[in-house]
Amino acid sequence: MPSSSIKGKSVVIIGGTAGIGLATAQAAAAAGAKVWVAGRSESHIEKAKLAAQGAFEVRQADTHDAESLKALFDEVGTIDHLVSAAVGGERTLKPFLEQTEEQFKAAYDKLWGYAKVVRTGAPYLATDGAVTLVSGSPARKIRPAQSPLSCVGASVENLVRCLAVEMAPIRVNVVSPGTVDTAMFDAMGDAKEANLAAMTTSHLIPRAGTSEEVADGILFVMQNRFVTGTTVDVDGGRILS
Ligand SMILES: NC(=O)c1ccc[n+]([C@@H]2O[C@H](COP(=O)([O-])OP(=O)(O)OC[C@H]3O[C@@H](n4cnc5c(N)ncnc54)[C@H](OP(=O)(O)O)[C@@H]3O)[C@@H](O)[C@H]2O)c1
Repeated sequence: MPSSSIKGKSVVIIGGTAGIGLATAQAAAAAGAKVWVAGRSESHIEKAKLAAQGAFEVRQADTHDAESLKALFDEVGTIDHLVSAAVGGERTLKPFLEQTEEQFKAAYDKLWGYAKVVRTGAPYLATDGAVTLVSGSPARKIRPAQSPLSCVGASVENLVRCLAVEMAPIRVNVVSPGTVDTAMFDAMGDAKEANLAAMTTSHLIPRAGTSEEVADGILFVMQNRFVTGTTVDVDGGRILS
């Protein structure tokens, strides 16, 4: 069966007001989908509205707030593609033994947020719909001081395999980015470019990826009707380097 076009399909992207989610919204809208994105902060919402230029809808919702998610899903009605690219949790990049229990647990807010998105969104999904989540290369590339990223990413990937089995024929997949130049690194300020270059110098493709490259991977799993329960790496070969 050929890949399905997303033209005319309804696509909802939680965590879609910046970075990878926003690039996915732009790509899906350009492919003719009806797209809604959501995030928490007004600053990202305003930037997303500017980027959208009316090509997609921008709303406020939080992966941890079922009411805000439900309000959005009620507006959309039947959802063909439910995507979550939200960060959704606080990560403390220190060795495990130097973190407090609270710091370690806080990283798992990403998983709980994705779980709420799927639980709240499931009744709205079309019977041939699809769910796509975003993990990250630390799930399978183990580095010191990255246990929160690694553990929560691996949990997201395993949740996806469980959901693919339980929710079939709805397809459920996850895309795993490597180091990608997004707002996630804006706190580095003027050092961002140099830091990203240093972080990626040993990768097989020695540069940071772009949001558009990861969005390409997300659109692939959304459209290919023979793909479910799969993790697609878009990481410049980071996990092999
Ligand atoms: N960039 C990388 O190098 C990289 C690497 C591996 C994995 N990832 C993963 O890729 C995904 C996207 O990351 P990104 O780099 O595109 O991040 P980003 O540029 O910071 O964008 C994250 C988006 O998620 C929204 N968001 C965060 N928490 C949310 C919540 N609780 N509810 C709703 N929206 C929320 C943000 O808006 P508000 O903050 O305004 O809500 C924003 O729209 C994340 O899951 C991240 O962990 C990224």
